[in-house]
Amino acid sequence: MRGKLTYINGPLVSANLSQACLGEQVRIGLQGLMGEVIGRKGDSALIQVYENTESLTPNDEVEALGHPLSVELGPGLLGKIFDGVQRPLKDIAHQAGDYIPRGLSLKALDDDRVWPFQPNEVLLHSHVTGGVCLGTVVETARITHKILVPPDVNGQLIGLAKAGDYNLTQTIAVVKTATEEKILYLSHSWPVRTPRPFINRDDATEPLITGQRIFDTFFPLLKGGKAAIPGPFGAGKTMIQQQIARWSNADIVIYVGCGERGNELVDVLESFPKLIDPYTQRSLMERTILVANTSNMPVVAREASIYVGVTMAEYYRDQGLDVVMVADSTSRWAEALREVAGRLGQMPVEEGYPAYLASRLAAFYERSGRVNTLGGDQGSVSLIGAVSPPGGDFSEPVTGHTKEIVQTFWALSKELADARHYPSVSWTESFSEYVPITAQWWAKNIDADWQNLRAIALSLLTQAQELMRIVNLVGPEALSPEQRWILQGADLIKEGLLQQSALDEVDSHASPQKQFLLLKIMVLIYQRGASLLALGVPVQELNQWPLLIKAKRCKNTYSSEQINDLQQFIQQIETDFHHYFDEYGAK
Ligand SMILES: Nc1ncnc2c1ncn2[C@@H]1O[C@H](COP(=O)(O)OP(=O)(O)OP(=O)(O)O)[C@@H](O)[C@H]1O
Ligand SMILES: [Mg+2]
Repeated sequence: MRGKLTYINGPLVSANLSQACLGEQVRIGLQGLMGEVIGRKGDSALIQVYENTESLTPNDEVEALGHPLSVELGPGLLGKIFDGVQRPLKDIAHQAGDYIPRGLSLKALDDDRVWPFQPNEVLLHSHVTGGVCLGTVVETARITHKILVPPDVNGQLIGLAKAGDYNLTQTIAVVKTATEEKILYLSHSWPVRTPRPFINRDDATEPLITGQRIFDTFFPLLKGGKAAIPGPFGAGKTMIQQQIARWSNADIVIYVGCGERGNELVDVLESFPKLIDPYTQRSLMERTILVANTSNMPVVAREASIYVGVTMAEYYRDQGLDVVMVADSTSRWAEALREVAGRLGQMPVEEGYPAYLASRLAAFYERSGRVNTLGGDQGSVSLIGAVSPPGGDFSEPVTGHTKEIVQTFWALSKELADARHYPSVSWTESFSEYVPITAQWWAKNIDADWQNLRAIALSLLTQAQELMRIVNLVGPEALSPEQRWILQGADLIKEGLLQQSALDEVDSHASPQKQFLLLKIMVLIYQRGASLLALGVPVQELNQWPLLIKAKRCKNTYSSEQINDLQQFIQQIETDFHHYFDEYGAK
C-alpha cells in the first residue's frame, strides 16, 4: 500500500496511509528510509523514522510493507555486528564505507553462505508444531544451531532436506498446514515486539557465574534473571558489562550498545573481536552478537535496538541455550521513548517521560526468564541493563522503576569510583533477591559454609561503616581494640575480595572455588585475630601480622587454577595463629 507524506517533524512524520496498522514497517521517499507506524489519526499514520529525515518533503511517496519490524533468525547471527535495526555493519562498511548511507537495505544474514544441515529424518510425514527440531547446523565450534519449526507453523511435514550443504534460500522442509504448503528455510523472521512463545516459565535455580566476586559472592544473578547496573557518569558500567560478556558462563552473549558516548562503542567494536573465550580458547565472537546503534541514526532508532537484541536472545533460548543480553544503557532507550512521546504530544508525567515508561520497562525485562521451550528443552535469557541516571541521582524515574522490576541491583557509587575502588559496586545500596536460591547451589557445588561466611563478611562491612562514622567524629582513639580489628576485617574484605581489577590478567576473573577460598581466608583471619585479641595480643601487633598484606594480594597472586596454593595459605593462617596462641596463651 502506498501513500504520500503530509507532515514532517524531525524523526516523526505522517502520511495518508489509511490501512496501515500500528507497528507496520514503511519505506519513505526516493531513498526508501526505514520507519515504523507508531500512531494513527483519522486516515493518517504517524511514523517514527529510523534514519535522518533531512531532505524529505511533503508528497514524497511512502510505502507500507505489510509487516511489523522483524528480525531474521538463523545460522550466521553469531559473530555478527548489527546496527539497531539488524543491518550488518561490516557488510555495510564493505559496500558503502564507514558512513551508513540513508535508506540502505541489507539482509541481516548472508543468503549465500552454505551450512552443513543434518536432518532429523524420523520426523518426515509426522505432524510437527512450532519448536520441533528439524535438524542441526554446526554454527561455530561451540554452538550447534537447532533448526526449529517457527512458532507459528503447524502441520504435516511432507518434505525434509537430505543431509548436505544448504544456503538460506534453499528449501529445508515443507509443512502442509490447514491453509497452504509452507516452505521452511534455515532461517525465518520474527516481529521484534512480540515475545517468542514458550510452554511455561520454570524456576531459575542456577547462578550466572560472572567471575566477578562482588556479583557471584555477594549479589548473585541467576540464569534467567534480571539485573540493573545504575551508575553515575564514568563509574564503570561499560567495563562491568564487558566483563560479564567476556567471563560469564552463558552459551551466548548479546551486547546491545544503545548510544552511549560515541567512542565507547568504537571501543567495544574494536576490543570484542580481539577477546578470547576463556571456555574454548577461541574468539569470543563465536558466541557473541553485537548490536550497535550508530550515531548517525536518530535517537528514536535506539528504541528498536533493544527489541532486536532481546528477540535474538529468545531465538537462541528456544534452542535450549543460556543467553545473556547486556544493554548499555537503558537510559538512552528511555530517552528515545521520551522524545517520541514529546513529538506525539503525549502528556509528560515524570521528568518528561510518558506515563507508560514503567510498563515499557517492565515489559522489556519480562522477556527474561528460564523457560521450557516449545521444543521441550530448557533455555534462559538473562537481562542486564545499565542505567545512567543524570547527575547520578538514583531517584530519577528510569532508575526508580527499574529498581522495582529487577531482582538484582548492582548500584555503582561515585565515591568508590573516585577512590579507584573497582568495580565501584556499593555493598550498601546493592541487593540480590536470589541469595537463598544461590546458597543451595554453592552448598551443593562448592561449600556448605558459603552463606554463613558471606553473612559474616557483609556484617563486617556494615559494622565498619558505623565505626567509620565515629572515627570521623571523634578520631580513631575512641575505638576499642575489638572495634579496630573490625575495621581491619572490613579492609581485608574490601581489598582482598571486593576490589577486582578488570585489567589484571590473573584478577580479571575468579572461579567460584577461588572466590570461596578468598572469602574463607579473609573471614578466617578476622576470626582468628579476634580470638587472639581476647587472649591479650595487642591490636597493634595483629595489624602488623605479615599475612594481612599477603592475604590482600592472594587475588592476583593465585589464579583460579591454583586452588592448592590457596588451601595452603589457609594452613599458613592456622599455623601462625597457633604460634601466637602458644606465645600468649602460655602467659
Ligand atoms: N573493574 C575495573 N577495573 C579497572 N578499572 C576499571 C574498572 N571499572 C572501571 N574502571 C575504570 O573506569 C573507567 C570508566 O569506566 P566505564 O567507561 O566503564 O564507565 P561508565 O560508567 O560506562 O561511563 P559512562 O557513564 O561515561 O558511560 C575505565 O576506563 C577504567 O579506567
Ligand atoms: Mg559507559
